[in-house]
Amino acid sequence: MMAGTTGMAGQAATTETPAGVSEAIGALAAAWADVAAAVLADRPRRFLTTMCEALAAVTPPWEDLDAAPLHERIHRRLLIGPGFDAWLLAWPQGGSTELHDHGGASGGFSVVAGTLQELSAGAGRPGRTCWRAGGRAAAFGPAWVHDMVNEDAALATSVHVYRPAITSMTYYERWGSELRPLRVERVDDVAEVTLGQAA
Ligand SMILES: [Fe+2]
Repeated sequence: MMAGTTGMAGQAATTETPAGVSEAIGALAAAWADVAAAVLADRPRRFLTTMCEALAAVTPPWEDLDAAPLHERIHRRLLIGPGFDAWLLAWPQGGSTELHDHGGASGGFSVVAGTLQELSAGAGRPGRTCWRAGGRAAAFGPAWVHDMVNEDAALATSVHVYRPAITSMTYYERWGSELRPLRVERVDDVAEVTLGQAA
């Protein structure tokens, strides 16, 4: 998702933008995003879940976009809207994010295909693991810290929405029951693509 940086993807690979997504789908998603942003401006959690589920409904699994074998988790920014952005992530088996926050942004995600394991972690409390599949969205607030991984052999594809648009992520390690910051990565120099401009 971002050339020359690790950013959102941790050790994500930089690959060419996949072909195979129609311009019609992209235009529709972008138009819908503008409407949703306006209508749901005062309902931030509802905005995140609605946006994620709508994007998941029009986003193909990664293997339908790019037939090349996927060896590392990749990410692409799909949309930049008024006060938010949206991302497509693809996860081979073992692909993970490490424990991270979202730089003060709230967020949500939907799994398009496959299954993702989410480990949420807060200072002073044990981690909690959820398995995510299907298009139903999960949403979280600006203090959320989690790790996500695909432990299955099948490729996983997911869409993620951040509000405001994500600009940095802090990565953590567990230190007893606490979280210790390891590094901050800016989300910049991003390979951007709308659903209708994959090429
Ligand atoms: Fe995250």
